[in-house]
Amino acid sequence: MVRLMNPRLCLLWCGGAALVLLLLLATRAKEDEVQGFGDPVKGAARALHQAAAAFLPPPAPPGVSPPLLQKQQDVDRTSAGASGCSRGKWVEGLPPLYIITPTYPRAEQIPELTRTAQTLMNVPNVVWIVSEDAAVPTQAVVSYLNETGLKTVYRRVMMPDKYQKVKNKPRGVANRLSGLEYIRENAKDGVFYFADDDNSYDIRLFEQMRWTRKVSMFPVGLVTKLGVSSPIVRAGRVVGFYDGWISKRRFPCDMAGFAVNVQYFLERPKATMPFKVGFEEDGFLRSLGIKAHEIEPLAFNCTKIWVWHTQTKKNQPALPVVQNKMTVGTNLDVLKTKLWKGNGTVQGKVPSNGIKMV
Ligand code: UGA
Ligand code: MN
Repeated sequence: MVRLMNPRLCLLWCGGAALVLLLLLATRAKEDEVQGFGDPVKGAARALHQAAAAFLPPPAPPGVSPPLLQKQQDVDRTSAGASGCSRGKWVEGLPPLYIITPTYPRAEQIPELTRTAQTLMNVPNVVWIVSEDAAVPTQAVVSYLNETGLKTVYRRVMMPDKYQKVKNKPRGVANRLSGLEYIRENAKDGVFYFADDDNSYDIRLFEQMRWTRKVSMFPVGLVTKLGVSSPIVRAGRVVGFYDGWISKRRFPCDMAGFAVNVQYFLERPKATMPFKVGFEEDGFLRSLGIKAHEIEPLAFNCTKIWVWHTQTKKNQPALPVVQNKMTVGTNLDVLKTKLWKGNGTVQGKVPSNGIKMV
């Protein structure tokens, strides 16, 4: 003690403490930097940071008791499960994959985007362009994208009026075009792929399409009565197409059946997708000027089905949650905000309030 009181030593101690404090502050500053979004992600540290943030429980809305939303074991279990995948991981030197997903507001939208996002979480160097066909951004979509830990780009555009009026609409074209615009303005290399939100994907497909030099193609399951749409491949070359609707198409294939090299696309400034129902894929591939013999068959010479047009059953908007005094202050206060209500006019009568207390 007496020695500590020595003024010289005291100065030394204070100096030391200040140094430690400065070091601590510097580390914090670095961590903050890791959280920011910027140009193609700086590494796994950021991804981990985002992953951790996404699994933290949301703050309890006023009036709702926090334990209902934040049970410690829920947090522990969800975090443990997430550690296995590489969400948002960026590996230097690996070509980026631009995944363009057209989507639109409906009851199945968040479930569909959840399935797509959780597939992409297992694929490194992904930029997920979610392009919504809607008059205003769907808040649940924007929030969900921010939670995923993926590098996401949100776009919004509406199908032009004249196409909305017709019975057979060119679905997803305006929003795919908006995704292509993003690529023209921001991408330099890598590969892009149109991943509709109603498909299921095997992640091995993404690893193969990443190396596409011009245009690659592969089978798509659950398309037409034939059950599959695929290039016909002999001795490693595309020699034809197997598809339930050939028509006058030069490239009878599905939207999910091909990937395109970004540089190849950028070198073709006129390449675009037509608003022509049934001919969107064909029109786009024609506009690229690709020749059948140049197509790179993937999925082991098109012997594997790694993407399916799953489609999801259409669901009605949810009936209103009619609460009673026993349920106010419970999780129902929050759950009812998450339900798809459509345009607000519920069809059919509310049968009962659907509540039983124990
Ligand atoms: C496929 C093609 O993806 C469409 O481009 C094409 O118009 C259609 O076939 C056709 O040839 O008739 P399909 O599976 O039939 O589409 O339609 P959806 O799955 O309903 O829509 C395709 C994509 O566009 C989906 O990702 C969906 O979310 C989106 N979409 C759908 C919109 O953005 N707006 C809509 O109004 C409907
Ligand atoms: Mn579809």
